[in-house]
Amino acid sequence: MNFSQKNKSSPFKQQVIENFKDHVSSGKVAVFQKYGIDFVTGRRQGAYLWDIDGKKRLFNLHCNGGVFNLGHRNQELIDLLKESLDELDIGNHHLISKFRAELARELAGLMPSDLDYAVFGVGGGEAVDLAFKVARAYTGRTKIISARGGYHGHTGLALAAGDEKYRSPFGPCAPGFCQVSFGDFDTLCQTADSDTAAIILETIPATLGVAIPPQNYLQSVRKICNDRDILLIMDEVQTGLGRTGKLWAFEHFNIVPDIVVLGKGLSGGIYPITATVLRKPLESVFHEDPFIHISTFGGAEIGCRIARRVLEISSAPEFLDHVNLLASRFAEKIEGLRVKHSKFLVKLRQLGLMMGLELKDEICGPLLTKTAYDQDLLMIYANNDTRVCQLLPPLIMSLEQVDWVIERLDMALSTARRLKPMVGVKAQVEKFIHKFM
Ligand SMILES: Cc1ncc(COP(=O)(O)O)c(C=O)c1O
Repeated sequence: MNFSQKNKSSPFKQQVIENFKDHVSSGKVAVFQKYGIDFVTGRRQGAYLWDIDGKKRLFNLHCNGGVFNLGHRNQELIDLLKESLDELDIGNHHLISKFRAELARELAGLMPSDLDYAVFGVGGGEAVDLAFKVARAYTGRTKIISARGGYHGHTGLALAAGDEKYRSPFGPCAPGFCQVSFGDFDTLCQTADSDTAAIILETIPATLGVAIPPQNYLQSVRKICNDRDILLIMDEVQTGLGRTGKLWAFEHFNIVPDIVVLGKGLSGGIYPITATVLRKPLESVFHEDPFIHISTFGGAEIGCRIARRVLEISSAPEFLDHVNLLASRFAEKIEGLRVKHSKFLVKLRQLGLMMGLELKDEICGPLLTKTAYDQDLLMIYANNDTRVCQLLPPLIMSLEQVDWVIERLDMALSTARRLKPMVGVKAQVEKFIHKFM
């Protein structure tokens, strides 16, 4: 596909793009140029991002996988950040901290069962790495099973639990990892053996195209973990914090994990912080040497204050009611679009505002991403299943905004439908040429 168009950027914006190309990533600039997307983020507020030229405004329907659940530059969080800067900084990662203790206690209160301990980090990958370290140390076993097409981060162990495509250029990975198809319980049973320390799953794998697990799948996984003394790690980096209409997505499936990984939205989009929440007995792995896991910036005190407020906002019953109201409106309106564009839009995958548009084939995701962009919607296809466009709007949007988004999506779908035959042929020619180069 090549959507490149005549460049209308201002000289100022052009300079930013050149700098990015020359010093950050020439590859990304080439990809965006190919798609005719020259957006450079400038002002941002609530559900919106403005181009640095001020000429284009995008409605954010991706929210960086949940980082902007509470919108861009949420005023309450900005005020709290400013206030915190009057007295705090990152803090000392070795000493006892009031702010880390308060945040961990708040998390424990919002988690079921004895998920009482939290280890804080900076990024989701780091939080996943720690979950694996704890699982291995606690069980004395090695093997970690994850879902093919899932995603848990770019760091050492998290990367090893991810797909080939993200790791193959970078040399050997840590041993002991294997993948099975998400939802295939029989293969999971055959793979989970006496050397298995943990099974990690995203409650709803986003990169795999917002795959909604069958109702009994996660309960069956929980059961074999119980039967075989394997720890169950739920990665709620994208699905946690109200995204699905409940505070934690695993609550929909009536299971209690042994470890829960939180990231993205915990930051409020303001200060990076992640958490690996552990059932009480697992904390014993740090009894002999509590300094064996160190993260200088993990649980920065300013971040702890922000995250605590994020938890308070996201767990309020009226906040979750609002998410569910928005979700029903999206369901009703997208069903109308599905009927109208049935040759292109197959169905809505949905749990609350964790949504994916399942489209006809793998060309459709990238195509709709582009036609939606032209309608001022920031929507991104799922990297590991390009038939699906992820739809993750901010949880604080209004019902009126849902209606506006649907109008734009309707136009984007119409254009995508019209372009598809041409793009399909072009993609086939490109594939053919590529094969013989
Ligand atoms: C489900 C999931 N887990 C873990 C991660 C890794 O988080 P980070 O990029 O903060 O390392 C991501 C990032 O996209 C994710 O989507």
